[in-house]
Amino acid sequence: MLSAKTTMAHHHHHHGHGHEHHGQGVDFAAANKEYFSTHVSDFDKPSVTELAIKVTKAMREHYPFDKNSTTVMDFACGAGHISRELGPYSKSIVGVDITQGLVDAYNKRATEKGIPPEEMHAVCVELKGEEGELDGRKFDVITCSMSYHHFGSVEAITKMLAFFLKPGGALLIVDILNKPENAAEVPKIPEKYRHVIAHTSGFKEEKFRAVMQGAGLITAVFIPEAMDFTFLFNEEEEGEGSVTGKLFFTKAVKPSA
Ligand SMILES: C[S@@+](CC[C@H](N)C(=O)[O-])C[C@H]1O[C@@H](n2cnc3c(N)ncnc32)[C@H](O)[C@@H]1O
Repeated sequence: MLSAKTTMAHHHHHHGHGHEHHGQGVDFAAANKEYFSTHVSDFDKPSVTELAIKVTKAMREHYPFDKNSTTVMDFACGAGHISRELGPYSKSIVGVDITQGLVDAYNKRATEKGIPPEEMHAVCVELKGEEGELDGRKFDVITCSMSYHHFGSVEAITKMLAFFLKPGGALLIVDILNKPENAAEVPKIPEKYRHVIAHTSGFKEEKFRAVMQGAGLITAVFIPEAMDFTFLFNEEEEGEGSVTGKLFFTKAVKPSA
């Protein structure tokens, strides 16, 4: 949950250059797996749930979720906060993540809530976008919240996700907006978090629309400042404080024909 702070602090140093680590020579998936495996309890913070409520409210405003029919993949699902908020409005949700500890936390909470696995469960897999994965299932909606900045290649991930959308299906993403003004208020971030953030500056609208287009998706909605976020900066070794920023919301649709 420290990613956004890292993002903006780093941006401060590279302001004007648009530098990002595009993944050459860096295995962001492996680094993320290792990082999140040892930060499972971060997902118990109330701020994670508070953000998930805001994120899913935006998602439901822009997609007509139907309890009787809507099938959902929650990509990079973490401990399942997005899935649990969308559960009451979806027929079924499959969480996908590369971190086993988070997939376990996701499934534990679903079981505790008495939700049957056919309605909500998560799998630990690094999807490629190939026939036969996820039992050949395709989805009406794929959600991805607060994770795009962790992906080495957002182009490759988006193409992979487009494969799993039904024709007419929608990819709903929330992530950090690249907004230089925010950098100034960010405290200095420890170097140790930077290796899990591929896109240290967040994303600009034009870049994101191009990524969607490259995957054959049409950006139907892009709200640059859809919501605010605040992350508490409270680990002992780092001192205390908080950081705020803006998140964008986007809906990209797979053409029907
Ligand atoms: C900041 S958490 C967000 C979790 C969840 N979407 C939420 O909003 O609470 C980022 C998640 O991305 C996952 N992740 C990072 N890289 C990934 C990749 N290449 N493929 C799938 N999941 C990935 C991590 O394991 C982690 O669960």
